Amino acid sequence: MQPDRYITIMREKLDRELFAHSLGVADAAADLAEQYGAERDKAYLAGVIHDYGKRFNGQELLNLAQEMDIALDRITRQESRLLHAPVGAALIKKELQINDPDILSAVANHTIGRSGMSQLEKIVYLADYIEKGRDFPAVYRIREAASEDLEQALLEAVEFAIRSVLDRELLLHPRSIAFRNELLELQRGKMSNLSDKLN
Ligand SMILES: [Fe+2]
Ligand SMILES: [Fe+2]
Repeated sequence: MQPDRYITIMREKLDRELFAHSLGVADAAADLAEQYGAERDKAYLAGVIHDYGKRFNGQELLNLAQEMDIALDRITRQESRLLHAPVGAALIKKELQINDPDILSAVANHTIGRSGMSQLEKIVYLADYIEKGRDFPAVYRIREAASEDLEQALLEAVEFAIRSVLDRELLLHPRSIAFRNELLELQRGKMSNLSDKLN
């Protein structure tokens, strides 16, 4: 894996702000990988390229998804910006010849999430929220959680994401709800294990 090559490509393709965000996500993902036992190099590279599809508008993303046989559903047809993740993953494979399935799935699932995420998928999802350039009120709490408990931080991140979908009156994807419920159930399980131990 040669991250420098892909950094150069991203610098050419993305605007300044999105490029800085991509490097921030790469750094955050590499740190999380070290902390939570995933492959650092894969996490870094996935971070660098995760928003490869973000430079297209909604209509372009719909066209690209159709061209590349990416499955659409009722929600992604209407909230087509969500497609920057799976379309980005397909383009990365086609244009950058990155074939690593772990990296491609981390890119494809970084926006909506899903239940049963791999460790690398979780790390890239979370890194997208906590990279150093992010500055929204909940980010400080999510960063703090990330230093102790990956799933707790993810739960807070996905709940933040869901709230912001509601605030903007957008359609909420059922896969995000499944992801959130899975995390909440997991955290509840951890809490009851802990209280069993204490009793
Ligand atoms: Fe994204
Ligand atoms: Fe991003």
